[in-house]
Amino acid sequence: MKIAVTINGERREADVWAGESLLNALRDDFGLPGSKNACEQGECGSCSVLLDGELVCACLVLAAQAADRKVVTVEGLAPTGELHEIQRAFIDAGAVQCGFCTPGLIVASHDLLARDARPSEAEIREALAGNLCRCTGYAKIVDAVNLAAERLDGSA
Ligand code: FES
Ligand code: FES
Repeated sequence: MKIAVTINGERREADVWAGESLLNALRDDFGLPGSKNACEQGECGSCSVLLDGELVCACLVLAAQAADRKVVTVEGLAPTGELHEIQRAFIDAGAVQCGFCTPGLIVASHDLLARDARPSEAEIREALAGNLCRCTGYAKIVDAVNLAAERLDGSA
């Protein structure tokens, strides 16, 4: 079936099969591999994207459900190729190791900071509870979100 989706501000079309996930369509049909596929069961958050502004696991959404809606992926946060402040903060805080969880964490952190410019540590941990990381132990991820919040708030 043919679908049209506005992805990162651009209207795109693809031919998907009825049971295809949005994650699969993003990676394979739309050529956007930033969203990662780690569990395909809604458990890890590595595929996090915004669907009409709501944080979702793209592996749990059918591509067909995204038809005529707006999707923002991690690529959409840095459309010119220059790193977003949150991405920079993750690097500067040492919150990236293997990097597999990072795109989902960046999208989820962006969602959090859009709602709350200066979240507490508990709020950061709660907001990112659906994003699993096997490498960092999470402390540096919390540091990174705090650093991004400081920088974004300071430049606001
Ligand atoms: S791949 Fe979607 S939640 Fe893990
Ligand atoms: S940096 Fe490896 S899973 Fe998070």
